[in-house]
Amino acid sequence: MESLIGLVNRLQNACTLLGDYGSAGDSVFSSVPTLWESLPSVVVVGGQVSSGKSSVLESIVGRDFLPRGSGIVTRRPLVLQLHKTEPRVEDYAEFLHLPKQRFTDFSMVRKEIQDETDKMTGTNRRISPVPIHLTIYSPNVVNLTLIDLPGLTKVAIEGQPEAIVRDIESMVRSYILKPNCIILAITPANQDIATSDAIKLSKEVDPLGERTFGVLTKLDLMDKGTNAVDILEGRAYQLRHPWVGIVNRSQADINNKVDMVAARQREHEFFATSLDYSHLAGRMGSEYLAKLLSKHLEAEIKARIPAITSLINHSIDELEREMSHIGNPVAVDAAAQLYTILELCRAFERVFKEHLDGGRPGGDR
Ligand code: GDP
Ligand code: MG
Ligand code: NA
Repeated sequence: MESLIGLVNRLQNACTLLGDYGSAGDSVFSSVPTLWESLPSVVVVGGQVSSGKSSVLESIVGRDFLPRGSGIVTRRPLVLQLHKTEPRVEDYAEFLHLPKQRFTDFSMVRKEIQDETDKMTGTNRRISPVPIHLTIYSPNVVNLTLIDLPGLTKVAIEGQPEAIVRDIESMVRSYILKPNCIILAITPANQDIATSDAIKLSKEVDPLGERTFGVLTKLDLMDKGTNAVDILEGRAYQLRHPWVGIVNRSQADINNKVDMVAARQREHEFFATSLDYSHLAGRMGSEYLAKLLSKHLEAEIKARIPAITSLINHSIDELEREMSHIGNPVAVDAAAQLYTILELCRAFERVFKEHLDGGRPGGDR
């Protein structure tokens, strides 16, 4: 059976092709909520500059592939789909907008994200709600989907319009407001948590901390004599899910081309040998975070199968209606695309049902 996360990925791709990417989209589906909104997803929120958001994502993937630089680098949502392959398969990446093109050189992935961002946001360097979909296939990842959004910022930087500060906040808010959104709130440990934008915003939309995962980066950069045990043990700021501490590569490490494998090894050692954190070592680090999120995402999808199935049914009705309107030969491509998606929706209905039946006690699978 295909993984539930893989299934939802294909559904999410179909939504984007149809222009349904949440409230910002202009979907052929008129359903409220839209199909996209009904799909559980993990959204990465990080405040200010350099909270370590990109580093956490790269560490979860185990590859360097994100554009770097100062200023607002992420200007379109990035839907990052991780797909675990059989052992010994070489890592590769694919973009939804470049079907059939396989990237094995991850510096080209970085370049493509940059080019695609510029294509949509043009020279004015504003942000765009149209997501870029990237799938990474590797034996070394867990099945997981993460949506990276522009980092929250207080001030526009040179060459970027003032409105960008407000635009980013409302984009992030539009994602994390949805009850199906799992929030990955990233805060650097060398900053006062009370001033963390990621925590402030997540508290606003999820006051009980039921769907927020707190991540504390830069534990290695805290002042000597201080530690973050109060936060990591859930006393300083309570969330329903456990906090995860992370040690990413420093800028010097990146300059010296320290690779991901070595970085993960060092992160393990940091926790295992730390006087402050060794008692927590088993539930710290990026590898643990990836597994935790994968498990949680799968459970959330499972819990929502009935709701998703009923929305799919609804969408199928709408697509069929749409299909009957596309009668003229000019729209042949659009019709073919809708048809493919309709078939996909029907396939989902079947497979979701299998999972649902399989999950029932006494089911015969
Ligand atoms: P973003 O702006 O939130 O995406 O942050 P980045 O991931 O790009 O990180 C910004 C800078 O902080 C980079 O120079 C990273 O090397 C550095 N950095 C991120 N996380 C850590 C960490 O856990 N420890 C150390 N020492 N440096 C980090
Ligand atoms: Mg970044
Ligand atoms: Na963000």
